[in-house]
Amino acid sequence: MSKLIPLHDFISENHCDFPSTELSSILGAIEKAGKNISKDIRKAGLVDHILGSKGSQNIQGEEQQKLDVVADLAFIEAFEESGQICGFASEENDNFVAFQNKEAKNATYVVLFDPLDGSSNIDVNVSIGTIFSVYKRISPLGNEAVLEDMLQEGTKQVLAGYVLYGSSTMLVYSTGNGVNGFTLDPESENFCLSHRNMRMPEIGRLYAMNEGNINECEEGLSNYISYCQSRENQTGMPYSGRYIGSLVADFHRNLIKGGIYIYPDVLSAPKGKLRLLYECNPLAFIAEQAGGLASTGRKRILEIKPEELHHQRVPYYVGSKLMVEKAMSFLKK
Ligand code: AHG
Ligand code: MN
Ligand code: MN
Repeated sequence: MSKLIPLHDFISENHCDFPSTELSSILGAIEKAGKNISKDIRKAGLVDHILGSKGSQNIQGEEQQKLDVVADLAFIEAFEESGQICGFASEENDNFVAFQNKEAKNATYVVLFDPLDGSSNIDVNVSIGTIFSVYKRISPLGNEAVLEDMLQEGTKQVLAGYVLYGSSTMLVYSTGNGVNGFTLDPESENFCLSHRNMRMPEIGRLYAMNEGNINECEEGLSNYISYCQSRENQTGMPYSGRYIGSLVADFHRNLIKGGIYIYPDVLSAPKGKLRLLYECNPLAFIAEQAGGLASTGRKRILEIKPEELHHQRVPYYVGSKLMVEKAMSFLKK
């Protein structure tokens, strides 16, 4: 096997991928926290602080798992330590946080993240992940970060990606020059390049939706799902249904194999369930950078102007280009 290329070396060799050293050290912070969480997860059933519920709720009224909070703290600590972040917003925190020290006030970037995606899968040993998104601040350097720094369109992302804690741990990111994937080598404890220039197949044979919601969604979508299950579809064979229930893992599978992931607006979640800032935007950025698409069904995700931090949810159609386009063609304009 050819020599493994650690993330650090890859970054040094690809200056054009990282317009600033600050941005590469933010990725370094994500790498560090991701490794720590990965280690924790590998010990899940053996230690007290990983499995089970925390007994508290986040700002969105969702029950917090212990690992939601552990991961949140690990990433916040790494961001603060990096000195390159003036503020952050996380799914698990009540409000955005502006770091108060002088170094942070002079930092250029903000991070938005979902520390642990797929909480319901933590206790059952199924893949989960961390999703992140980095923006340049709008507010002037030397000041505290403000809400407007967090509420930027997805097109403005300068770095986005995820860490997937699956059968192996992977870090996938883009700075807007394509997508690269790194696998954590348990021996050297380095993320090493394993998936160079990832491209999402234009079409696949997999569809992912929580079909428990099928009677609660718009007619056009249930017609599209019937089309997926028929021989009339673009491949002439019924697609296979695959739904893990961790967006990040469903997305990663479709990125590699080709497929579509759908979380529509449903009666119980009239604007959709997934959060624009913490989940949809970063994965939409990766999807587009890999040749895929991400839409509400009617509008490009990355062009939505965010209006609120926590409660902004959107219907989500993401994946292989031809499949997302086809799904959209079933929806009423
Ligand atoms: P989180 O664990 O960060 O709250 O996100 C859960 C999300 C997403 O990961 C997943 O695709 C979706 O919720 C699953 O929802 P259903 O259980 O309604 O299918
Ligand atoms: Mn999530
Ligand atoms: Mn989460």
